[in-house]
Amino acid sequence: MSYLDLPEKDAVVLNSAEAAKSFYRQQHRMAPGVPRGFAAGSYQGCWRRYYAACQIGDMKDASVLDVGCGYGDLVPFVVGAGVRRYLGVDVVDEYIKIASERWSNVGDRVDVQFNCVTGTMDPVIPVADWVVMLGTAGYGTVEYVLSLLDTGFRAASKGLVFSVCNEFIETSELLKAVRKLTPKFRLLTDVWGPDQVLYLYKDNGC
Ligand SMILES: C[S@@+](CC[C@H](N)C(=O)[O-])C[C@H]1O[C@@H](n2cnc3c(N)ncnc32)[C@H](O)[C@@H]1O
Repeated sequence: MSYLDLPEKDAVVLNSAEAAKSFYRQQHRMAPGVPRGFAAGSYQGCWRRYYAACQIGDMKDASVLDVGCGYGDLVPFVVGAGVRRYLGVDVVDEYIKIASERWSNVGDRVDVQFNCVTGTMDPVIPVADWVVMLGTAGYGTVEYVLSLLDTGFRAASKGLVFSVCNEFIETSELLKAVRKLTPKFRLLTDVWGPDQVLYLYKDNGC
């Protein structure tokens, strides 16, 4: 299978961080360095999604936790938006190694760090102003998608950007879960193709 022979939804179903790790490690072997959001279909799709993530609210001097950061391709976008601190985490250590090398020189004004994680994070207190999860739940079962949504929202003090394609969870089911977390949210369906980009806000978010 080549990288561009993207797996059918039914062929790959991720139901745990362990399954995600093995799947995305294989993706790395097939196409090292290619933005993991490239599954979006094009570089342009990736850039549009990264740009959309930075529109959730005021990022100036904020902290951002990027869960499922891949090679850290979001970094130049959040740096441009003025963040003070960025932490990218991923279950695949090869991604973290390349991301750390690639983004070690973004200037003194921003603190950029990367960490390999088990993917079973369960924060009880917010760990960053904004949490970003772009495609992190892709290929996941509905339960996996919803558990990441829940964890990401709890980890944010201001809000969460969450994107997942509508082939993995229907919009109605996604919104039902979102409404249980917060009445303050916005859904974008025009970022690219089948992607559903959600902004979820805490009380002190925008
Ligand atoms: C489709 S890629 C998107 C990468 C990046 N966010 C982007 O848009 O370019 C999904 C990423 O999420 C990571 N991932 C999946 N489940 C995870 C979890 N539970 N915790 C941390 N990372 C996870 C994968 O290893 C992969 O790098």
